[in-house]
Amino acid sequence: MTRPEVTIRPRQDADLPELVRVMRAVHEADRYPAIWPEDALAFVATTDPLGAWVAEVDGQPRGQVLLCAVGLTGGWAEVYGEGASALAEIKRLFVSPSARGLGLARRLMRVALEDAARRNLGAVLQTLDDNHVAIRFYERAGWHPAGSVPADWTDGDGQHPTMVLFTAPPDA
Ligand SMILES: CC(C)(COP(=O)(O)OP(=O)(O)OC[C@H]1O[C@@H](n2cnc3c(N)ncnc32)[C@H](O)[C@@H]1OP(=O)(O)O)[C@@H](O)C(=O)NCCC(=O)NCCS
Repeated sequence: MTRPEVTIRPRQDADLPELVRVMRAVHEADRYPAIWPEDALAFVATTDPLGAWVAEVDGQPRGQVLLCAVGLTGGWAEVYGEGASALAEIKRLFVSPSARGLGLARRLMRVALEDAARRNLGAVLQTLDDNHVAIRFYERAGWHPAGSVPADWTDGDGQHPTMVLFTAPPDA
């Protein structure tokens, strides 16, 4: 079997419809995102990320990651205080169930972390406390849990699920 050709590159607007299809498959397989967004394209795109990258397999987008500014509001300031303004958040990381285990997420994360470092920003992320696959993935990559906060959105029962915040390893 030939090895698939993997490329990590900056996202283009033309990637968005295929990324929504990939995220639909991820939602059905892994419950990410936990609640399917009303405007899935806007959710994938996200307003004004600092950076957005796509993992392509044989010429097709199969995963993405974003780097976004962190404000002094919400859970970040609660946990990191004023230091939150020197942070950037890794968001919207997902890989198609058909392209798992190829190192796509690891390579996407590396590109996003390099970009954060160039901007002199520390990297953080958050995940649902029951997303065991993602938590294992981050811990294996050396990320440290920094605390838990209630999500700023509600699930189908009107509850705020618990999010675990993670800090990038210092040498990332
Ligand atoms: C988490 C996720 C992004 C990993 O994607 P991936 O491209 O398959 O991961 P990689 O191939 O880069 O794997 C990187 C490492 O994680 C490990 N890993 C990946 N998936 C794993 C799993 N299901 N169980 C255990 N380890 C796993 C790999 O073995 C690898 O370890 P290594 O570096 O020691 O070899 C993917 O499972 C996913 O899209 N999940 C649903 C969306 C999601 O939860 N996103 C995070 C939201 S916060």
